Amino acid sequence: MTRPLAVGVAGLGTVGAGVLRLLAENAELIAARAGRPIAVTAVSARDRLKDRGVPLSGLRWYVDAAARAEDAGVDVVVETIGGAEGAARRLVEAALAAGKPVVTANKALLALHGRQLGAMAESRGVPLAFEAAVAGGIPAIKALREGLAANRIRRVAGILNGTCNHILTEMRVRGLQFAEALHEAQRLGYAEADPSFDIDGIDAAHKLAILAALAFNRPVDFSALHVEGIRGVSAVDIAMAEALGYRIKLLGIATQGPEGVAARVHPCMVPLASPIARVDGVFNAVVAEGDAVGRVMLEGRGAGAGPTASAVVADLIDIARGRHAPVWGAAASALSAAPAIPMQRHRGAYYLRLMVLDRPGVIADVAAILRDGGISMESMLQRGRGEAAGQAVPVVLTTHECEEAAMQAALARIAQLETVVEQPSLIRIEAL
Ligand code: NAP
Ligand code: HSE
Repeated sequence: MTRPLAVGVAGLGTVGAGVLRLLAENAELIAARAGRPIAVTAVSARDRLKDRGVPLSGLRWYVDAAARAEDAGVDVVVETIGGAEGAARRLVEAALAAGKPVVTANKALLALHGRQLGAMAESRGVPLAFEAAVAGGIPAIKALREGLAANRIRRVAGILNGTCNHILTEMRVRGLQFAEALHEAQRLGYAEADPSFDIDGIDAAHKLAILAALAFNRPVDFSALHVEGIRGVSAVDIAMAEALGYRIKLLGIATQGPEGVAARVHPCMVPLASPIARVDGVFNAVVAEGDAVGRVMLEGRGAGAGPTASAVVADLIDIARGRHAPVWGAAASALSAAPAIPMQRHRGAYYLRLMVLDRPGVIADVAAILRDGGISMESMLQRGRGEAAGQAVPVVLTTHECEEAAMQAALARIAQLETVVEQPSLIRIEAL
């Protein structure tokens, strides 16, 4: 067998330690598939004394992670530190500048700096691989960049954040309020102590920016994404959705049409019969629609040591084999300049829940505003009666397809009605 591929791993947390463990546990099988052994030779983290649950003896320890970029005994740099700036960015830039292949799980770094990093890798002719950055163990990057390479992709979408999917599932199955489900997700270690990246949709948006760049061979454009999280989803919306034949999921959706590319992350109502409606708990799913292949859906674990290490090691095997695809699916000079379509121009159907005082004429006022905005109602449902004077009741409307700008203008007017006592809840209906 040829010389082992020497790997330096920076960051020994969930993902980094998982990579060391998987490389040790499946060493023989991995060597056979890679054509040579893959051996970790150097590591770094902040705390040298911390027990990582994996043996580190005999490995070179770097205090400054970026220093390994110059180490002649490291063929490939694995970055599992995290964060779009700081040590992770310094290390990846230094490694690429030194002509070293990089494997990273860092979606924030790629979403914000993927364009420059892709150009750097291309100019040096070295791989920049990131299978673990999107949907953990699901081989979504390879599927889009290689398996579906012959297709014009019309839409790529998915459940891209396991923490949110877990929270929404628990709210539905156990009738929990958002705050209770979040608290439990934190207790179980799914959500961070500061969970905002997950529940405000930012983590899913980082991943969608990467998927959209690959699906449409377009430079990564995180700033063009419309992003909403799940803080505003209530238990009553989840119950109403089920009654109407839908399930609420936080989806990332990117579409390409003649006018450009639209990319958005927000809670959606998907039909109960849709396969993605049944992806529950911490599971992720990625759906791609190609002109030749039709619809493809991949489902699996989007986080955790095993699934993420599986993706990182798959990238290492490709590098050991000398397999090397363009970072964004095509050379930088061949990437598309299709414009980003703003959210205001999105067209779709909507669910609207209003908490209204149970008085004659309330629905007529709401209907008049929708009529003025050219919005056609599909259904209307009032549950219960406000028994006591001044007690609000939920009224739920669904609309036919209309433009986002018209819906937002109507919503602002509806929210100002004296009989509407809470900020209305709006959820987009998505046929997926
Ligand atoms: P983590 O458990 O917090 O581990 C981060 C590691 O980086 C720790 O070992 C930490 O050292 C080390 N580190 C921090 N600053 C450093 C520095 N300046 N120099 C060297 N090492 C430093 O994070 P993680 O969950 O493994 O995530 C790592 C990356 O994978 C992130 O980009 C994340 O988004 C991505 N990712 C994670 C998952 C997942 O399931 N966790 C899934 C997909 C992608 P100490 O241990 O000494 O503090
Ligand atoms: N925080 C992410 C999630 C896992 O909940 O899906 C890492 O991508």
